[in-house]
Amino acid sequence: MNTLDNKRIVLGVSGSIAAYKAPDIVRRLIDLGADVRVIITEGGREFVSELSLQTVSKNKVHNNLWDKDAELAMGHIELAKWADVIIIAPASANTIAKICHGKADDLLSTVILATKAIIMIAPSMNQQMYASKAMNENLRILEARGVVNIEPGSGEQACGDIGEGRLAEPIEIAHQAANLFINNLLIGKKVLITLGGTIEAIDPVRFISNNSSGKMGMALANACVNSGAKVTMIIGSISTQIEKRAKAIFVTSADDMYEAVMDNIENQDLFISCAAVADFKPAKVSQNKIKNNTNLESIILSKNKDILESVCKLNSKPICIGFAAETENLISNATEKLINKKCDAIVVNDVSNREFGLNSDNNEVHFITSKKTEKIDKNSKQIIAEKLINKIVKYFF
Ligand code: C5P
Repeated sequence: MNTLDNKRIVLGVSGSIAAYKAPDIVRRLIDLGADVRVIITEGGREFVSELSLQTVSKNKVHNNLWDKDAELAMGHIELAKWADVIIIAPASANTIAKICHGKADDLLSTVILATKAIIMIAPSMNQQMYASKAMNENLRILEARGVVNIEPGSGEQACGDIGEGRLAEPIEIAHQAANLFINNLLIGKKVLITLGGTIEAIDPVRFISNNSSGKMGMALANACVNSGAKVTMIIGSISTQIEKRAKAIFVTSADDMYEAVMDNIENQDLFISCAAVADFKPAKVSQNKIKNNTNLESIILSKNKDILESVCKLNSKPICIGFAAETENLISNATEKLINKKCDAIVVNDVSNREFGLNSDNNEVHFITSKKTEKIDKNSKQIIAEKLINKIVKYFF
């Protein structure tokens, strides 16, 4: 199971002998599909080499709040915003106390204060320190704030003591992070998703297409699988990794996509039309490559069938969610589409903003139903997808 696909994880490594296991934690997270960046504290640097962490994470290790060059590349606020999850492993007694009291005297504690990401800590320390009243109270406070405690194991410790306080195994840490994204919201449901762009042939080598990467649709497929759904994807032209746990059907043109959707729509509970379907195709496809000395001044186009609208017209239609990529009057244009295509909700984003364009890793959307419009603020497409699934379930299931 590749349940950390597209997840952005900051691993905070603090001062504990178990820091030598940090490169293995990075590897386990990457094995599950995560993109990992490491922050190391001064204490952590005593126990593990930054070069090892840099090599396995394939990213520069962040170690200093005051490093001007590092701040220019990816500053502490950007790191805090970038992360979907921050895992402190090993979490020393000192680091736990600092985050408990909201201190911001080094890079890791500052990023923790500045983030909206899920925070996980994997304590690692001497058994007596772990059993102390101060540590117990700190952990209780952090838990009440929603920090997830990856409980330490019991056994012989580096200092020779026997008891609780050994860092959880790297594989266990990675699996607990992956489990954060698993829920039962769509258990037993069948979901059909279209994604990517379509390719409309002009001749055997030339075509009309668009810039869609398929990232938003793939993030939705991933979120649906993580919510327990049986997912089928109808995939056009994409430039992103494929969610391996879903069934994938590959198509080229809008006509192919229409056929594939209609062949698979029966018994679906939810249809998410995320594909950037070309509205027009060349009316005639030349059998042979058009010669460059041909006096060709224009290409006659004909309209493609609207797949979403056709699904919405079916007698036993599933819940239908459309997407609208707009450059102006976002809400009014998208609301018009919601009404015209008769879908249950439409998700609109501003593609004139290059930060959230068709090919970006981030998005900012409005979720529009006939009753309500709700904004989902800028975030990674993965997190936007999870928030969308939450809304779809809340309104329609
Ligand atoms: O009208 P517009 O193309 O902006 O509508 C976008 C929505 O309609 C998207 O959900 C897209 O997947 C869907 N669509 C479709 N078939 C078309 C054109 C758009 O399913 N031919």
